[in-house]
Amino acid sequence: MKIALIPGDGVGTEVLAESVKVLDATGVAAETHTYDLGGELYLRTGEVLPDSVLAELRDFDTILLGAVGHPDVKPGILERGILLRLRFAFDLAVNLRPVKLLPGVDSALAARGPADIDFVVVRENTEGLYAGAGGTLREGSAHEIATQESVNTRLAAERCIRFAFDLAADRPRNEVMLCHKTNVLTHAGGLWQRTFDDVSAEYPDAATSYGHVDAVCLWMVLDPGRFDVVVTENLFGDIVTDLGAAISGGLGYAASGNLNLDGTAPSMFEPVHGSAPDIAGQGKANPVAAIMSLWMALHRAGERDAADRVLAAIEKVVADVAPRIGTGLSTAQVGDDVAEAV
Ligand code: IPM
Ligand code: MN
Repeated sequence: MKIALIPGDGVGTEVLAESVKVLDATGVAAETHTYDLGGELYLRTGEVLPDSVLAELRDFDTILLGAVGHPDVKPGILERGILLRLRFAFDLAVNLRPVKLLPGVDSALAARGPADIDFVVVRENTEGLYAGAGGTLREGSAHEIATQESVNTRLAAERCIRFAFDLAADRPRNEVMLCHKTNVLTHAGGLWQRTFDDVSAEYPDAATSYGHVDAVCLWMVLDPGRFDVVVTENLFGDIVTDLGAAISGGLGYAASGNLNLDGTAPSMFEPVHGSAPDIAGQGKANPVAAIMSLWMALHRAGERDAADRVLAAIEKVVADVAPRIGTGLSTAQVGDDVAEAV
């Protein structure tokens, strides 16, 4: 595998180092190159993601990213300039986010265990309200006007929905739920619903359902066992997957894969969490989300055996030490343990 590493800022650098340790332990033949993008580069040079770097990144199979966000950089600059730019420029069509409670980890939901919380969110990753359409008029005045339009294409909805059905077919329950807000968002919701209905006709073995996003939030707390694969548009997917992280042990356990589906660019894997400047540099960050992102990357690259070993190692270590992660046990110790188990 040809892997680009973007450690980024804060705890991003700490957790990515542990993923690399675990990658080495798998024995997978990997050539890595590190790109020091992030707050430091921006503060030094004013550059966020130079075009030359973007062009180089395209030649890799996989990107592993730590986290971006720096206390001295205005919020949004690095997130939009690196994360969103990579998602758009590389057409990372799907943001795949497992919501999986590992044995030994406490859920924020009392009396829920791993059997209740095991689903996957397929988040559209290139458009919706994230497309940036709209504008501001009369800024700063009492008559200020802002519009923010959601862009939805049949193409982007269809590839996500198809991906969701294919994914579900490999899972025992084979159930796909469309999550939207079709009762209010009639234009975007209509496109998603029609696309879902058309695609689902090609998958007669799959069970289908629909949930309004507000109800999905309610069920995620009251009855998370009802979900298997949930497919949704960009912003709804952003929001429900933070809730997903909350019920599956917190952001320290939430992994994600930004997937290019047509082979024109690398896919990018990253923990859902940010750079956490408040705990950066202290060895307190939980590297499991980053290591689970590596698991997803290996799986996607067809390194199934290595992926299985990484997941088994994570499960073994977490079952033993989850309560001590972040308190008794350092970031590097957790990474060492997982690497050793691999
Ligand atoms: C995420 C993050 C990003 C998003 C931000 C940092 C732009 O919240 O990956 O979920 O909104 O997609
Ligand atoms: Mn988010």
